[in-house]
Amino acid sequence: MIIDQIKTKCIPRHVAVIMDGNGRWAELHGNDRIYGHRQGVDAVRSIVEGAGEIGVEYLTLYAFSTENWDRPKEEVNALMSLLVDAIVKEIDNLNEKNVRMRVIGNIGSFPEYVQTKLMEAIENTSDNTGLNLILALSYSGRWDILQAVKQIADKLTSGRLQENKINESVFMSHLSTAGIPDPELLIRTSGENRISNFLLWQIAYSEFYFTPILWPDFRKENLFEAIADFQRRERRFGKTSEQIRS
Ligand code: FPP
Repeated sequence: MIIDQIKTKCIPRHVAVIMDGNGRWAELHGNDRIYGHRQGVDAVRSIVEGAGEIGVEYLTLYAFSTENWDRPKEEVNALMSLLVDAIVKEIDNLNEKNVRMRVIGNIGSFPEYVQTKLMEAIENTSDNTGLNLILALSYSGRWDILQAVKQIADKLTSGRLQENKINESVFMSHLSTAGIPDPELLIRTSGENRISNFLLWQIAYSEFYFTPILWPDFRKENLFEAIADFQRRERRFGKTSEQIRS
């Protein structure tokens, strides 16, 4: 079994996923795009379960990008209700699996009812100590960097921060992922080899894994395959192989 090929000692602490291909999957099955998104929830359930089973600490899912607001209104609305429905339906399952749900992104841009349900789910799962499931919603990497810059500029103006104190760790503490380790592994489904404005700062040293599988077909076994592939790689962080091995 693929799970047996994974080295338990080198599990990435943080895996980020660009879930792509719902629309194409729906088209292949002769149905509308919303149907594809709905089937995508089964894939989410499976990888949340799989990530928890092997001890991944953080799983970040790109569920709604800043750019997704430009999709047809019906699709945006359907994605909102799907998200809220899925969260409400899955909450007991998340608690049973000790999963803590968190959110990154411009949540204030969502309708009030979506914000309320998100906050309830975050609050309801806040005592869980297993996997951190981080939903990136109305998120983009550039948005994240800009909002960090604005916070820092504000602190400089009001004298709460000195310019010579700004370094990488101070900057990172203003990103929406403050306190969360950078993802070691970034997965994108559907055969597209792009980052599409996802975690731009945080993926500086991430390993990328691109798979042609369309998101609704992705299951925990595919996550395990990605992790096994990741474990076969040598991460050098700018150093030489000899330095890494010694
Ligand atoms: C990309 O496929 C997928 C999305 C924009 C939405 C992802 C949402 C879900 C899987 C459902 C809800 C999620 C949670 C966390 C409960 P696409 O529409 O861009 O596909 P295409 O490129 O084939 O058109």
